[in-house]
Amino acid sequence: LAFATRSKSVATMAASQEFTGNLKREVEKLFDASLRITVPDGTSVETEVAASLPGKPGDYQCNNAMGLWSVIKGKGTQFRGPPAVGQAISKNLPASEMVETCSVAGPGFVNLVLSSKWMAKSIEKMLIDGIDTWAPTLPVKRAVVDFSSPNIAKEMHVGHLRSTIIGDTLARMLEYSKVEILRRNHVGDWGTQFGMLLEYLFEKFPDTESVTETAIGDLQTFYKKSKTKFDEDPDFKEKAQKAVVRLQGGDPIYRKAWAKICEISRTEFAKVYQRLKVELEEKGESFYNPYIANVIGELDSKGLIEESEGARVIFLEGFNIPLMVVKSDGGFKYASTDLTALWYRLNEEKAEWIVYVTDVGQQQHFNMFFKAARKAGWLPDSDKTYPRVDHVGFGLVLGDDGKRFRTRSSDVVRLVDLLDEAKTRSKTALIERGKDKEWTPEELDQTAEAVGYGAVKYADLKNNRLTNYTFNFDQMLSDKGNTAVYLLYAHARICSIIRKSGKDIDKLKKTEKLALDHPEERALGLHLLRFAETVEEACSNLLPNVLCHYLYDLSERYTSFYSIHQVIGSPEEASRLLLCEATAVVMRKCFHLLGITPVYKI
Ligand code: ARG
Repeated sequence: LAFATRSKSVATMAASQEFTGNLKREVEKLFDASLRITVPDGTSVETEVAASLPGKPGDYQCNNAMGLWSVIKGKGTQFRGPPAVGQAISKNLPASEMVETCSVAGPGFVNLVLSSKWMAKSIEKMLIDGIDTWAPTLPVKRAVVDFSSPNIAKEMHVGHLRSTIIGDTLARMLEYSKVEILRRNHVGDWGTQFGMLLEYLFEKFPDTESVTETAIGDLQTFYKKSKTKFDEDPDFKEKAQKAVVRLQGGDPIYRKAWAKICEISRTEFAKVYQRLKVELEEKGESFYNPYIANVIGELDSKGLIEESEGARVIFLEGFNIPLMVVKSDGGFKYASTDLTALWYRLNEEKAEWIVYVTDVGQQQHFNMFFKAARKAGWLPDSDKTYPRVDHVGFGLVLGDDGKRFRTRSSDVVRLVDLLDEAKTRSKTALIERGKDKEWTPEELDQTAEAVGYGAVKYADLKNNRLTNYTFNFDQMLSDKGNTAVYLLYAHARICSIIRKSGKDIDKLKKTEKLALDHPEERALGLHLLRFAETVEEACSNLLPNVLCHYLYDLSERYTSFYSIHQVIGSPEEASRLLLCEATAVVMRKCFHLLGITPVYKI
């Protein structure tokens, strides 16, 4: 029953019309109140409110009349059909300054038109109090976002770049929604690759003290060489396997060499994070090592673990392979660490929502250990109740040839080079437009960076993350279409209009009124007011593309407004400047949530 969760009395509803940020929720509250009067006692009903499609009458519609009719007809109701139910829903709507009109159409759709005056007032208030007052409130206090998570000494590839970009955006959106976020870099620093890496290191550098980054040179090449040796030399292979056991058993010499390799990798990863301005706290696989045995013990005591061909596994309904937790040689697996990390996050870190960002290829792994955790009673059976876990999967990055993205020269793509190239290209484009003559070198560099990195991020985020995306510099750096460049320029143009007006916008906010009298102004205003509900939707479905779509729409609506209405020098100048400023504020917040640095000049 919807009413059980939204239990405000009708009287308080009518009074509370101050905008709390989520427009759809505000409208829902009004219809909740109306339905409570309209519906006979004891009828359960979930309020159905949706934003009206463009071109339809009304801003929001309530779709309950039809469903309600089928529940109450033939039960002595006074209503004659769905339209009559709709009429009653409309009539029983509490008085609210939010509402301009409410009417019924067709088989009983109740269309609500918001008051333009109220809309304008709510935007004015946001301009004064700041956009953080629009932040959604989610039903969780603390969450983990497990993202980026490359593997030490192995390649940090474009898949990790996607994870870094998507994870950072999700973390930002949740942080804005007042959730405390533990940004976790679950680096692969404990796997079997270390056996061969360490043995190879001891061979090359008998004195491990002499090992430095420059001595090892490129860690990926080092990894490849050790792998070749591992595959070709049986003696080396045996030594490598023993090395893993010594490392995991805590042998100081092995631990020291291991730490050195990790340090070198970390420096490499940091270059990418620093360019992207992404913050992460490393708690790699090794961190959970001391807890694994206990966690496996707990699962065992719950009767989850069985023997199978010398290994210890968990059989799970719906999967044709079991989840392996202890190998036949006693070693632990990826899943053992993930189960332990989950236990730690739930019990030690008290996270209520744990979000994992990896390619869809790992979906089965996540589904399996999530299921094991449910079986152990760590998580509720329903996957939308808290504590909650979600695997945020994403598709591949493709090259223009439709195959996995590679660079021409080598089979690995160095992420640092990739980002640098985006910046260089955006700088070249700015120079072609003569900006090197207008701006200081710092301005040129900062803009090139904001645009270049922003383009890479936005190209990744704008499509549904599950689809593969094609990495193409020309497309992402184009100033036309749905690109970061286009959006950043749109924002800069708004800022330049405000600058050219010569007006002090902070003063206008306090002294002038905003009016949404013309259809284009009103459509833009309505879109601004839908910002928070959009962020909330993007958060609950973990879909950054929802926010990208919103941002692109916003700039389109702004263009429709600006191409018809004069701002500077018009009788409505003050009001329109406020509308420009509100658009710029919301755009900047979108950029911020997407991890893109806004630019103010173009
Ligand atoms: N290191 C893994 C990889 O590169 C990703 C780890 C994702 N996080 C996790 N808790 N399993 O594929």
